[in-house]
Amino acid sequence: MNQTLLSKDIFILAIESSCDDTAAAVLHNDQVLSNVVANQEIHRAYGGVVPELASRAHQQNIVPVVHQALQQANIDKNQLSAIAFTQGPGLMGSLLVGTSFAKSLSLGLNIPLINVHHMHAHILAHFIKDPEQTIPEFPFIALTISGGHTQIVLVKDYFDMKIIGETIDDAVGEAYDKSAKMLGLPYPGGPLIDRYAKLGNPHAYSFPKPKVDPLNFSFSGLKTAILYFLEQQQAQDPNFLEHAMNDVCASIQKTIVDYLMEKLANAVVQTGVNRIAIGGGVSANSGIRSALAQAESDLGWKTHVPKFAYCTDNAAMIGIVGYLKYLTGYQANHNVAAKSRLTF
Ligand code: KG4
Ligand code: ZN
Repeated sequence: MNQTLLSKDIFILAIESSCDDTAAAVLHNDQVLSNVVANQEIHRAYGGVVPELASRAHQQNIVPVVHQALQQANIDKNQLSAIAFTQGPGLMGSLLVGTSFAKSLSLGLNIPLINVHHMHAHILAHFIKDPEQTIPEFPFIALTISGGHTQIVLVKDYFDMKIIGETIDDAVGEAYDKSAKMLGLPYPGGPLIDRYAKLGNPHAYSFPKPKVDPLNFSFSGLKTAILYFLEQQQAQDPNFLEHAMNDVCASIQKTIVDYLMEKLANAVVQTGVNRIAIGGGVSANSGIRSALAQAESDLGWKTHVPKFAYCTDNAAMIGIVGYLKYLTGYQANHNVAAKSRLTF
């Protein structure tokens, strides 16, 4: 870290457009001044994100969202120190909107441009200074669980991290959303399964947990198991879900949460590190949150769960990575390009 920069007032404008949320945030050093997210409701009607529609909506949203972020932060664009943006991974058409916007603004204002890896951001969101968040100590294990990713990462320093486990097929958020779809719930169904799970019996039904390497995940088998289970139940009782919805959701949730916790326990044994930080949309889940709290008291783990606004896709997490990179003196070249598959 550059000590001179650490003592300065740095203002970062951050832009995130990797999937279906158009987001912009302004940070003053490691604190968030504004964090604006425009959700794209249009995808609900299709039961999932439609890439072409997402890019079009980003085009419409990006200017008003950035404007709102600057206004809420009470910052004039001429006060900005740098522009940070999500370079990838994500949907190409979506990433292109944020990338092109960030490049143009950085050229127009003649300030540094900083490219950010979306998954680094889900992890480094823990370093946002906030009264509701505790900052993890290095080294720690990050479990990133979202609609696109499921990874266990050993984090030794801000920019020294290594994936030690990941899904071999679907992401956990995808497993939630696909299960929800089979239950007739609207997209994205993860939060709904979570809501109904709280009202049901987690031991009512049991679903298999796929056997893969100790730190890897597989969710495609769960999806098939739920499909056959529902077909069987509905053959006997066409109104099965009308009375069993809460119990089915609670049982799915228990299967997924137990599976995630098992993998974390394997990672703790393998690395000898028992500080755990979660990130990504699924970390909003009440089941994983209470399982982690339980592991704190039962197993002596130290766990870190981000504030809700920093769990799902947001630009504040892009801003904190932008700030940390800025402190190292880094800036991107203007020929930097969006990448749908970006190496970690
Ligand atoms: O990180 P995120 O906002 O976007 C991606 O990068 O994918 O994660 C979205 C995912 C969706 O699959 C959504 O269903 C899931 O996070 N999700 C949840 C909950 N809240 C969001 N899954 C289970 N329980 C929740 N409470
Ligand atoms: Zn994400």
